[in-house]
Amino acid sequence: MKNVLVTGGAGFIGSNFVHHLLASDPQVRVVNLDALTYAGSLDNLRALLDPARHMFVKGDIGDKDLVGNLMRQHMVDTVVNFAAESHVDRSIVGPMDFVRTNVLGTACLLEAARQAWLADRVIPPEQARFHHISTDEVFGSLEEGAPAFSEDTPYAPRSPYAASKAASDHLVMAYAHTYGLPVTITNCSNNYGPRQFPEKLIPLIILNALEGKELPVYGDGRQVRDWLFVEDHCRAIHSVLVNGRPGEVYIVGGGTQLTNLEVVGQVCAILDEASPDSPHAPHASLIRFVADRPGHDRRYAMDSRKIARELGWTASESLASGLAKTVGWYLANPEWAEGVRRSASYQAWIAHNYSGRGGSA
Ligand code: NAD
Ligand code: TYD
Repeated sequence: MKNVLVTGGAGFIGSNFVHHLLASDPQVRVVNLDALTYAGSLDNLRALLDPARHMFVKGDIGDKDLVGNLMRQHMVDTVVNFAAESHVDRSIVGPMDFVRTNVLGTACLLEAARQAWLADRVIPPEQARFHHISTDEVFGSLEEGAPAFSEDTPYAPRSPYAASKAASDHLVMAYAHTYGLPVTITNCSNNYGPRQFPEKLIPLIILNALEGKELPVYGDGRQVRDWLFVEDHCRAIHSVLVNGRPGEVYIVGGGTQLTNLEVVGQVCAILDEASPDSPHAPHASLIRFVADRPGHDRRYAMDSRKIARELGWTASESLASGLAKTVGWYLANPEWAEGVRRSASYQAWIAHNYSGRGGSA
C-alpha cells in the first residue's frame, strides 16, 4: 500500500481514517477525493500530521474521467471507499441522492479500478486492493434474542439507505467474482467519535444538551444498536487492508449493545459530571419521546469473531471510555460545532426532521 485513494475522506469516518493512516504508516501517500456535500468539511482535515503526503481533490466519485485520471496520475494501488450518503432519515426524505452516490458512484469507482488495474495494468492486480466500507444495516433488523449478524447473514435491507448500501456491496462482490478485482468489504456497526456530523444520534444529543435544547428520542427509545468507537473502526480497516484476504467480508462491531435511551442517558450523565453547574443539568430532563422513524429497525448486533480470529482485531474502547472521549472532543472544539450549526442547510434539516414530530418527556 503506497498510493491510497480515500473517497469521502472529508466526512466523519473518512477523515478519522486519513488521520489514522498518515500517523501510523510513514510510507503511504493519500489522495482524498470528496465532493464536500453538507456532511464533508475541510475543517475535518486540519492539523494533519503530514500535509505533504495528503492531497485533497474536490470531486464526485461518479465522475468517471476524474476518477480514472486520479488512478493513473497517482499510480493508485489502494482504493478505500467511504464516500456515501449516510443518514437513514435523509434517505427516507430523498432516496435518489443515495442511489446516485452509493450505487452509481460505487459502480463508477469499480469501473475505474477495473480499467486501471486489470486492463491497463497501471498496478499489478496482486498489489492492488479495492476496499469498500459498508454497514450492518444491509442485514435488516434483528428480533430480540436472535443471533448477531455474521458474514453469512443474508441481506435484507429495509431503508433506502440500507438498500443502496446493499446494492453497492453486491456490485463490489460481482466485480471480484466476474473480473477478479481484488476487493474486501467491512460491514461495521454504528460509529461514534470526534467529527461526527450532528444529524446522527450521539453528536446531536451532545450538542442539543449543551444548548439546553430537547433531546429527541424516536418511538419508545428501546431500539438497540451496537456502538463502535471510530478509532477502533479505523484500526480494523487498516488491518483488513494489510492482512485481509481479497474477496473476503469482515464484520466489525464494538460489542456494546444498548438501547438508544440508555445511550442518551449515558451521554447526559457524562455532561452532568463535566459541567455540574450547567443550568441544563440534569441533562436527562431534556429527553423527549418523539414520533418514530418510518420502518425503524429494532435491533442490530454484530458477531466480530472472524476479524478477531483471522486478523487479531478487537475493539479496545468501551462505550463509557469512548463516550467520555467523544464528549470531551465536542467540549474542546466548540468552533467546529458552531460552524455546522450556523449553516442554513443544517438548520433547514433540523427544522424539517423534527418539527411536527411532537414530543413528550
Ligand atoms: P459522512 O456522511 O460523515 O461522510 C460522507 C462523506 O462522503 C462526506 O465527506 C461527503 O462529502 C462525501 N461524499 C458524499 N457523496 C459523495 C460523492 N458523490 N463523491 C465524493 N464524495 C462524496 O459518512 P460517515 O459516517 O463518515 O460514513 C462513511 C462510510 O461508512 C459510508 O459509506 C457509510 O455508509 C459507512 N458507515 C457509516 C456508519 C456510521 O455510523 N457513521 C456505520 C456503518 C457504515
Ligand atoms: P442514527 O445515529 O441516525 O444511526 P442509524 O439510523 O444509522 O442507526 O440513529 C441511531 C439510533 O438513534 C436509531 O435507532 C435512530 C435513533 N435516533 C433517535 O432516537 N433520535 C434522533 O434524533 C436520531 C437522529 C436518531
